[in-house]
Amino acid sequence: MITCDILVIGSGIAGLSTALAAYEKGFDVVVITKGESPEESNTDNAQGGIVYKGEEDSPELLIKDILEAGAGATNPEAARVVAEEGPRLVEEILIKKVKVPFNKRESGEFDLTEEGAHSVRRILHADDLTGRAIERSMLRYIQNHTSIRIYTSRVAIDLLTLQHHCKNPTNVYKPLECLGAYAYNVKEKKVERFVAKATVLATGGLGQIFLHTTNPKGATGDGFAMAYRAGVRLINMEYVQFHPTTLYHKDAKRFLISESVRGEGAILKTPDGDPFMERYHPLGSLAPRDVVSRAIHEEMTEKGYKYVLLDLASYMDAEAIKKRFPHIYETCLKHGIDITKEPIPVVPAVHFACGGVKTNMWGETEMKRLFAVGEVACTGLHGANRLASTSLLEGLVFGNRAARRIEEKWNELNTEIPEPAEWVDTGEYDPDPALINQDWITLKHIMWNYVGLVRTEKRLKRAIYDLRHLWWEVEEFYRKAKLTKELIELRNGILTGLVIARAAYRNRESRGCHYRKDSQKS
Ligand code: SIN
Repeated sequence: MITCDILVIGSGIAGLSTALAAYEKGFDVVVITKGESPEESNTDNAQGGIVYKGEEDSPELLIKDILEAGAGATNPEAARVVAEEGPRLVEEILIKKVKVPFNKRESGEFDLTEEGAHSVRRILHADDLTGRAIERSMLRYIQNHTSIRIYTSRVAIDLLTLQHHCKNPTNVYKPLECLGAYAYNVKEKKVERFVAKATVLATGGLGQIFLHTTNPKGATGDGFAMAYRAGVRLINMEYVQFHPTTLYHKDAKRFLISESVRGEGAILKTPDGDPFMERYHPLGSLAPRDVVSRAIHEEMTEKGYKYVLLDLASYMDAEAIKKRFPHIYETCLKHGIDITKEPIPVVPAVHFACGGVKTNMWGETEMKRLFAVGEVACTGLHGANRLASTSLLEGLVFGNRAARRIEEKWNELNTEIPEPAEWVDTGEYDPDPALINQDWITLKHIMWNYVGLVRTEKRLKRAIYDLRHLWWEVEEFYRKAKLTKELIELRNGILTGLVIARAAYRNRESRGCHYRKDSQKS
């Protein structure tokens, strides 16, 4: 059993932000991550940037942009917290403390970029690999300046709770309480107990449960499923955001073409050269993501295109393209597309979960001792559709706030907690990888075809029916087979898919990235 004051599950920006702030307040912090190395995270893949502050900018203007993108479902308090605290924390933590190499102009000023639905240029970037620069700078700082214990190759299985994992049967009458987590040690093939006075879920997103996604392979919805099984409320799960522009190429696995490409002037066109976004929104190619994704989908389905084109070459000088977007340039070139000379074929793909574990403005969930931060959490900041480049900021701000709240409440949290039961291994046989692969394929297709960009009652009903069946099969399988990382992820992915499908079925109103073809638009 590994004990600590604070257990952080996940090592992206939200988890590291919590861990660093908590360590600096004197807590004994443990971070677990299922990656073989700690940088494996959604954060590491983020291209575009992180909101800072532009000229003629103000918290009010940022709040207005967040609310407009959120399509009427944003929690204004969350927008205010992020707009008021975000730029200060970017400066204190990312710029001054961990020294992220954000791009600067020759004048020495930060090179602020633009993305869809922002009123001003206010986004910091590190070439077109901003997340990677942030993730690695934070990790380097933590490894060099702290004694935070980071355990890699640990797949969290379930939250340990007073109600589920302690012997006393009268615990069920007490409020829900979290005591840590069981985690599968991939290398040693055994389950470990991580026990803590406060547990912080920072497990990131769920894109991998859909057929096409910008997310890395670890984004299998683990935190959503663990919270759900423990009895914690998830909200806004129907709001799954699609990114409008990912590379259409058979070998490219939906490689992200950052929104900042449009921010720097690129225009979406049909293969016939029609700049179609002008017909859909006054902001054209820089309209909010939900609008752009649906417009692309409509053009593709109505006219039978397999993709649309993103034309940067006509609007930016070749040398400037190579300097500003080196990673996108190189990756497209590897696939035979020279973005300095020709337009990029693009299609939308799943990108971000706007909903998640319900939290207050301090990352507190409805379960005692359990916090959630970053993509797995839902403060309501993103409403029904997220504004570009706010996800890294959200992770930074709410990660920091969760640590502050744990410190404030430490007298209450620092009490004796009972020892949770040891893991009981019921595995009888090694799971057949062919079965797991096929179940993943089934899940991804159900989610893509029935719970995707365009939803109807019939499709959602069918999805729920099929997912329930799959869930039952895999729960049975899970109980009898020996644990593997892939099996744990599959179990989580199916449950998370089911939660999304049910939320989408219940909500008949089209709003933001939840589009019900069979109901009235709000
Ligand atoms: C992008 O670079 O387009 C992704 C940034 C984001 O999701 O905010």
